Amino acid sequence: MESTRSRLAHRLAEAGQSHLVQFWDELTPEQQAEMTSDLEAMDFQEINKFFRSAMEVSHSSKQEKMDARMEPVPREVLGSVTRDRDCLKDWEEKGLRCISQSSVAVLLLAGGQGTRLGVSYPKGMYDVGLPSHKTLFQIQAERILRLQQLAEQRHGAKCCIPWYIMTSGRTMESTKTFFSRHSYFGLCKDNVIFFQQGMLPAMDYNGKIILESKNKLAMAPDGNGGLYRALGTQGIVEDMDRRGVKFIHVYCVDNILVKVADPAFVGFCVQKGGDCGAKVVEKTNPTEAVGVVCKVDGRYQVVEYSEITLATAEKRSVDGRLMFNAGNVANHFFTLAFLRDIVKTFEPQLQHHVAQKKILYVDTQGRLIKPDKPNGIKMEKFVFDIFQFAKAFVVYEVLREDEFSALKNADSQDGKDTPTTVKHALMSLHHRWVLNAAGHFIDENGTRVPAIPSLKDGTDLPIKCEISPLVSYGGEGLEELVSGREFRPTLVIDESGAHELVKNGL
Ligand code: UTP
Repeated sequence: MESTRSRLAHRLAEAGQSHLVQFWDELTPEQQAEMTSDLEAMDFQEINKFFRSAMEVSHSSKQEKMDARMEPVPREVLGSVTRDRDCLKDWEEKGLRCISQSSVAVLLLAGGQGTRLGVSYPKGMYDVGLPSHKTLFQIQAERILRLQQLAEQRHGAKCCIPWYIMTSGRTMESTKTFFSRHSYFGLCKDNVIFFQQGMLPAMDYNGKIILESKNKLAMAPDGNGGLYRALGTQGIVEDMDRRGVKFIHVYCVDNILVKVADPAFVGFCVQKGGDCGAKVVEKTNPTEAVGVVCKVDGRYQVVEYSEITLATAEKRSVDGRLMFNAGNVANHFFTLAFLRDIVKTFEPQLQHHVAQKKILYVDTQGRLIKPDKPNGIKMEKFVFDIFQFAKAFVVYEVLREDEFSALKNADSQDGKDTPTTVKHALMSLHHRWVLNAAGHFIDENGTRVPAIPSLKDGTDLPIKCEISPLVSYGGEGLEELVSGREFRPTLVIDESGAHELVKNGL
């Protein structure tokens, strides 16, 4: 024991992290043993190296704006659901064929801490208050089930879309338990594969690891780009290979509208011969704080709003759209071959980004302090950091109102990206699906609600309508249920048909 301790003390001293054991003599033997095993598992030299290079990159990116080095996405690598309508059917057909051959997997990034939403459980377990009270995980699972069914119907072969779920040390156990309690929402257990991303300690501005209590380091997941290291260390690339997966759709847990394994997106990327693809939504407001996909020095990357001047953000093309308008929504396509190269060759070259945070810590007296301004950094890699390595990068533009509404914050008056806004986004989409299938809504007096409702009293509440993903993946198959019928909201369409809910619980 003594030699383990002195070895550890030596390693800590060498790395300039001896303060981590400053409360050693106050710890119980159990706490000492636990802390020893935590510290032994850490590579302090590597952590210090990450800190130095992250700080360097952060410093130099503050010095220089990107403007002069940026070029917009060229039209020839771009597919658009609005501008390339004629191709949509082909792309979708192509994607469905790949799905029917079981060569498409989906990969969910669910390792975040959801600090802004502020719940103590993983975000995917959140119920945003739909009539069905389905959680984000359930909605996504049911979309996978439905899509498998559509591909099977089209091509007459049984198929499977494996679902890889990346969690972190903080979300793994609760996520797994939740899925098991809900019988994997009808999916085959063997095709839901959980794996864990890495964690890194939070550091103060001098590179000292922060203690969150006398015997615990302040640890945080290493960003959604921690994916690439985890794919290697957790044997995920091999697992995909064994299953015959060739294409992977990667997405974030918080987008309630996400089209998991979207056949049109997959088909577009495959048809274009892309090895790496990004789904984007049009940025229409120059000052919207969204990263844009573009070329920098000839290579693709995402440039954040803070990295460019307002003049560049406001530039417009001849068609009147913003020149840099490919808003990144963390929704990507990769070939397995590309991911294999990333894991093997490029991942170690990716630098961590610096996120300044308020981090709870214990001071030298052992008192817990809650800082009121940022006192340190978390180090994170981003999922889009690998665009630069693509040999054939492609971009697919979709409509925001159809495909992107993210849950980030808790509800508040006029809040953005809240449970209420995402619930409304989903209901509004489903309302449009019903109208497209020739269904109608009537109000409490039996009068038809116009297709584009007027904004009564300044409110823009959507028609209350929810369609189970088990019935429709993207608006298909609704005609026989709604065509020519009139519904009084709340309308719920599920496997047993279309029902009006008598009690408006929303
Ligand atoms: P965000 O950056 O919005 O973070 O993640 P978050 O954890 O959801 O929320 P905050 O910032 O703490 O409030 C975007 C997506 O990336 C995943 C999240 O789970 C979400 O799907 N993510 C984020 C990871 O998988 N790992 C991480 O380390 C960070």
